[in-house]
Amino acid sequence: MARFKNAARLCGLSLIAFSVASAGAAVPAAQASFNEASHVFRLDGGNVTYAFGVNAQGILESVYWGARLAPEDQLERPKGKGRAFEIDDTPQEFAGWGGGLLAEPSLKVSFPDGNRDLVLHYVSHEIEGAAIKVTLRDIERDLFVTLHYSIDAETGILARSAEITNKTKAPALIEQAAAGEWNLPPSSEYSLRYLSGRWGGETQLQSKAIEPGATVLESRRGTTGHEFAPWFAVAQNAAVTEWDGQVWFGALAWSGSWRLTVEQDALQQVKIVGGFNPFDFGYSLAPGATLSTPVFYGGVAQHGFSEVSHLESNFQLAHILPQAPHPRVRPVLYNSWEATAFNVTEQGQEALADKAASIGVERFVMDDGWFSTRKDDHAGLGDWYPDPGKFPHGLKPLIDHIHGLGMDFGLWVEPEMVNENSDLYRKHPDWIIHFDGRPRTQARSQFMLNMAMPEVRAYVLSFLDKLLSENDIAFLKWDANRVFAEPGWPQVAPDQQKKIYVDYVEGYYGVLRELRRRHPKVEIESCSGGGGRVDLGVMKLTDEVWTSDNTDPFDRLSIQDGFTYAYTPQVMMAWVTDSPNWYNRRSTSLSYRFLSAMQGSLGLGVDLNKWTEDDFVTAKPLIAAYKQIRPIVQQGVLYRLVSPRNSSNFSSTESVSQDGKGAVVFAFLHAEQMQYPAPTIYPRGLLPDVVYTLEPIAGATFEGTQRSASGAFWMHHGIGFKLEGDYAAAAVVLKAQ
Ligand code: GLA
Repeated sequence: MARFKNAARLCGLSLIAFSVASAGAAVPAAQASFNEASHVFRLDGGNVTYAFGVNAQGILESVYWGARLAPEDQLERPKGKGRAFEIDDTPQEFAGWGGGLLAEPSLKVSFPDGNRDLVLHYVSHEIEGAAIKVTLRDIERDLFVTLHYSIDAETGILARSAEITNKTKAPALIEQAAAGEWNLPPSSEYSLRYLSGRWGGETQLQSKAIEPGATVLESRRGTTGHEFAPWFAVAQNAAVTEWDGQVWFGALAWSGSWRLTVEQDALQQVKIVGGFNPFDFGYSLAPGATLSTPVFYGGVAQHGFSEVSHLESNFQLAHILPQAPHPRVRPVLYNSWEATAFNVTEQGQEALADKAASIGVERFVMDDGWFSTRKDDHAGLGDWYPDPGKFPHGLKPLIDHIHGLGMDFGLWVEPEMVNENSDLYRKHPDWIIHFDGRPRTQARSQFMLNMAMPEVRAYVLSFLDKLLSENDIAFLKWDANRVFAEPGWPQVAPDQQKKIYVDYVEGYYGVLRELRRRHPKVEIESCSGGGGRVDLGVMKLTDEVWTSDNTDPFDRLSIQDGFTYAYTPQVMMAWVTDSPNWYNRRSTSLSYRFLSAMQGSLGLGVDLNKWTEDDFVTAKPLIAAYKQIRPIVQQGVLYRLVSPRNSSNFSSTESVSQDGKGAVVFAFLHAEQMQYPAPTIYPRGLLPDVVYTLEPIAGATFEGTQRSASGAFWMHHGIGFKLEGDYAAAAVVLKAQ
């Protein structure tokens, strides 16, 4: 609970107030109810109320989603719109494609007799605690949908999903299936935020007005993708800022092809429908079978985008991550990739490990190149045994050496992939995703194993299990450097093949889940050519994510800025790498690189063999300082004080501990111009009456001499960093006395 109190206080809310009704009776922090008279379901949690009802036609219709209402507030039964094609104008909770629906449906089904009309009416419901289950049925046949709703007591974030069950006597083809629809009241003033990107340029925040028609955010790649994050936020109007105004937001927990459709209809009603991507979708549901959709999470903030991030981060730490509700802070890791690429050897890794340990690194990760015949990216994937030339006695001597240095050991794997030049492919050429008789497109010289196939899953699980059983490995970096092409699955009947979009992901999740069950102490990173597989689904099974292969510390400011709109900084891995940076040849100082990376979970990817004595002297206290501030950075409340977007010359973030007693402020200058001083920074979220001492990190210098003052002083007087030259950075810690 302590974690959330500060977030609530900072947002001007009071969770305590919500536990006492105006009449003085205790009200649970979260609850669900059904009003028999109005036919309205209601979920209350955090500062949010969500309501929907059964309208006169028996259709489930959205009623309200916004700030928490008083317990005695009555919501009226929804009426439907009463126009010619009324079904189209009704803000449905889960629209079947039928009855004249022209808007984006949640569910589209083809029956073997040719019928494609589906109209879902309420049948029954169950309520348990703060969760509701509502069952719908087609008006004529036994196609059932059970909608699941629950609301989080602390953040008011809702979880929604659907189970589609075919109780007819024949298979039904599911052509489109969403987790649900979020409906917003009619307005022409909404604007959408979303995250777009590409390899090396992930999570760029975009903004656009919501206008008549649809905006589609999606992945058709079989995995989450770099191009868009399965996340949205809708600002109520132009007055919404980082700090104020109502914002609805949501994120889909799915690591396969997905789609979010943000649609404004002719009545200016807006809905966001999200789930499996209907493109090339076709899930044949046998009689008696059920298809479960991904979970679609959604919330509302009253205090701008900053509160969106607070709520999401708190929710992810408490409910999503595998170690929730108390995920341990991320260790400082070293990764060999940028230093050695494929050229790993036992001695070479040991030499890097010695140096990494000397500056306080806690985890040493050997990246690609350690196995089979892997000398470059043309061979070896699929054959997961240590290269006998590079590791004549296996991995044990290296791992022992690393343990002897006081670090734990991590290893890179790319389990879903296979090179054409590998024993695995020679033995099982049909284990890859392909169509018989068609070209097999390679990407990075590799194919994708079909994780929908039980024998492939069994193979992947067994080699990973063996690797973890035979070696003392604390961490896996699970990479995936390509996406689907020719998405065939010839081993099953043609009408079953499109199940690959669901079964592949379930197979991938299943292996991760079982691996974690067998090796509960092992931590895992989700990597996919950088940040190509980041979503709330994979975050339930992995402890951190690789944010981007682009490790340039300046580019990272905006990548990391965008990332934090949707995901907690705890999982956002950020490495200090060499200068000039390999990605764009930009040169920056070591302390600038550190401070940029210290905004997330710190790692190092530098070639320590190239470091001077001075570099070690610079790095050691920075790593020590990071260890002090990491609980705040990783699990505190983030304030994006000055955005790095839109070619901003200056940016700043602040993280405040959940109890408000500690804070860290980062400031970055792109290029000094005409000797203008850096803008004064005004921290937020401090306790106004408490005295804080300001301690510089990495020798930051300031205007003025005051080093001890009240929270009110720091928040209103501000901090004037002295930043000079290009790519200058500074950071301070504020500690309550
Ligand atoms: C991907 C990852 C990198 C590195 C390489 C290794 O590109 O994102 O961090 O692990 O693969 O081949």
